Amino acid sequence: MTRDEVLKKRKDYIFSCVTHFYSEPLIADHGQAQYLWDVEGRRYLDFFGGILTVGVGHCHPKVSAAIKRQADRLVHSATVYPTAEIVGLAEKLAHITPGRLQKSFFTNSGTEANEAAVLVARMHTGAFDVVALRHGYSGHSHLAKSLTAMAPWRKSGVISVGIAHAVNPYCYRCPLKLTYPGCGVACAEDVEETIRTATSGSIAAFVAEPIQGAGGFITPPPEYFKIVFAIVKKYGGLFIADEVQTGFGRTGQKWFGIEHWEVEPDILTGAKAMANGTPVGLTIARPEVADSFKGSTISTFGGNPITAVAARATIEVIEEERLLENCARVGAYFRRRLEELQQKHPLIGDVRGMGLMQGLELVRDRRSQEPAPEETNELMERCRAHGLLIGKGGLYNNVVRLSPPLNVKESDCDQAIEAMDKAFAEMEAAGRR
Ligand SMILES: Cc1ncc(COP(=O)(O)O)c(C=O)c1O
Repeated sequence: MTRDEVLKKRKDYIFSCVTHFYSEPLIADHGQAQYLWDVEGRRYLDFFGGILTVGVGHCHPKVSAAIKRQADRLVHSATVYPTAEIVGLAEKLAHITPGRLQKSFFTNSGTEANEAAVLVARMHTGAFDVVALRHGYSGHSHLAKSLTAMAPWRKSGVISVGIAHAVNPYCYRCPLKLTYPGCGVACAEDVEETIRTATSGSIAAFVAEPIQGAGGFITPPPEYFKIVFAIVKKYGGLFIADEVQTGFGRTGQKWFGIEHWEVEPDILTGAKAMANGTPVGLTIARPEVADSFKGSTISTFGGNPITAVAARATIEVIEEERLLENCARVGAYFRRRLEELQQKHPLIGDVRGMGLMQGLELVRDRRSQEPAPEETNELMERCRAHGLLIGKGGLYNNVVRLSPPLNVKESDCDQAIEAMDKAFAEMEAAGRR
């Protein structure tokens, strides 16, 4: 199909709420490692990876081979018949996830993973109220949209009761107008204030992303989650780490983002990069939490054999290619280069993130911190013209999100920096600050 045919059919047959990047949408055709090609044969260096999902590179040979082998053996069995593939994956996950997390429930997406996590937390604790964070994103279902605290994603008009939102640890735009470290991480105390004022007084769970992804790679200070954890326990809740973006090595050195804050979650959710692009949702919990799920439940596709082998192969690639280490090393290099870019280009107000999850918050003026959403779009278009794909996010749509595969090299980062440098310079020449 040509590009125009795809766009016509898209308009006629796809919900219009499904939005695309770029004024002229990019029609993706095929991918290999860190590169994506469009239908017109243009090659791009992919530094967004299908929203942090292509963790080990497009069509990694080991992952693709596992999928092909399994496709010829057994595509589907449903949860009514356990398979060696799924129990093997669950055992592996119990080993790589932090602390006492052991029993897994598999679904098809991050949304479902979070639904299951909140449901089992409510069953386990007997409490109903849940605290989430402002600027957090949890998915597209009724409950997940209610956990989400970013207005543009809450426009469904149907919002669940029993969810309260605390302020988030957004140091660049501190909701309490304080400055780290003199603030004493006062934002963490707001979780307690929220529980005391906006819930029944006891909670089923606290849900947070270790680094807020769609929110614009907002990275809490090192003390934040330990303080919050103690508060959550004081009010009887379970700590749910939503690792849909931060999981499976993305933050470098550790398998999961929350490990950097040295907190052991009661439940962890995963999706995206877990199976390198094959649909998957993971809810993993301590055994006593998992076993308090009342009644029986199924997910027809959850734990599908193809997904299971793709996830297992992805984890093995991360181990065999030592990608936790690579992500930390190359991520630190990339971060230094991004900070150099910030020195040159006044539009970059903040650089933040961990590992190969790095964000640039663009502002029209560094003093007023006025968000620069149009400039962010323009930067994306210009980077595309220079052969680089980047993402964006944030409440104001002014945060560039950079998340290449975990196996990129310093030279790939240099290319990305060069493309962004050119794009910023062009914008400055055109009068954009
Ligand atoms: C942190 C987080 N949680 C949950 C979700 C929902 O995942 P999915 O789109 O697979 O339903 C997302 C999706 O972007 C996410 O970023």
